[in-house]
Amino acid sequence: MLSYRLSANEKMLLVLGTASPDVFIEKTRPMLYRKFEDAEAVHNAMLELLRSESQFLKPFAKLYRPTPRLEISVRNIRLAPFGIAAGFDKEASALLPLSYFFGFLEPGTVTLRPRIGNPKPRVFADPSRLTAFNAQGFPSGGLAAFKANLQAYRNLGGKKPVFANICGLPIQNLDNAFEELKVMVKELNGLVDGFVWNPASPNTESLKQLRNKDVFAETAKLLRKHAGDKIRLVKMWPYESEEKESFMQLLRSFIDNGGDGTVLVNTKQVPKSEVPALSWGYNSAGISGLPLKKYRLRAVKEARRQFDDAVIVATGGIFDGDDAYETFKAGANMIEGFTPYVFYGIGLLRQIEKRVDELLKRDETNLQSLKPWLA
Ligand SMILES: Cc1cc2nc3c(=O)[nH]c(=O)nc-3n(C[C@H](O)[C@H](O)[C@H](O)COP(=O)(O)O)c2cc1C
Repeated sequence: MLSYRLSANEKMLLVLGTASPDVFIEKTRPMLYRKFEDAEAVHNAMLELLRSESQFLKPFAKLYRPTPRLEISVRNIRLAPFGIAAGFDKEASALLPLSYFFGFLEPGTVTLRPRIGNPKPRVFADPSRLTAFNAQGFPSGGLAAFKANLQAYRNLGGKKPVFANICGLPIQNLDNAFEELKVMVKELNGLVDGFVWNPASPNTESLKQLRNKDVFAETAKLLRKHAGDKIRLVKMWPYESEEKESFMQLLRSFIDNGGDGTVLVNTKQVPKSEVPALSWGYNSAGISGLPLKKYRLRAVKEARRQFDDAVIVATGGIFDGDDAYETFKAGANMIEGFTPYVFYGIGLLRQIEKRVDELLKRDETNLQSLKPWLA
């Protein structure tokens, strides 16, 4: 819980900050940084504020709605394909206020049992490079709390599609990972519209065992068996051009065995020497934001070339509507973000949607029929 109550002025800054990136940068973010010590604490405070001021925000959030041009159907789910990426709301604790803004939600990554993750500080934000550095080490409040939050979202009338981002851990052996995954899928299946299996956290060594063709195939089969009527995706990491073949083979293994598609891309691991924080205690970090742009576009284009019918969700440094539009044209069905909303606030979403809408109007098309890769 927050250790202070918002003054009327601060409350207004929060609301205006969710509407306008300029206000967020100049007023809301500095207000949060004055009160909280590091990037992760600021983020948690932001989530807590969204939650506690949910009723207050609702009417303001409703002032803007995406136009029908921006809506699509993905495997029979109708949505505006502009979402909030995994990690932003790990515990699914702010789904309702986020649903006032975003077209779909990807809470998690959740693990079966609670995990503390690495000691703090473990997240560093560098606004000058529009990059975040993350060494959280897979913290999670665990399945029970996540499920209760998801249930509360549905009980309160939350209707926006939810894709739960999950991972079973290969503790001692791989069977454990499958077993944990199965429990989570069965427990959450009635509350979600889909699953994103995340086998890639740059700072969690044991997860490397999950990144092989057999595990990808087994996981896809498990998801099909226990969540056959839901969208089933795998979250992939950024790859260098020479890694393209092995990367696409893994993805093929997931899709050929029953997966619907993929989320591209997760953070990219860089060594400590590339982290500009003086107090950084880790040998590496996963970077997000602007440096991921080229990796995201490359991965989306190549995945779409190889998998006509796959569901592709793009993330990684989508800061403006022109980039979002290019990403849709490259083959993404849906886009989502984390770091752009950390630096510019949730109001950025409206700017992105408005610009994509303008571009669609200019090109006399809509997102549903935008399939240049078929031409
Ligand atoms: C602090 C932080 C925590 C994250 N946690 C998760 C996570 O738990 N699960 C996951 O699949 N991705 C996680 N991500 C990755 C994001 O979902 C996203 O793939 C990545 O940051 C690139 O998108 P962006 O540039 O819009 O942030 C995290 C990213 C950051 C910065």
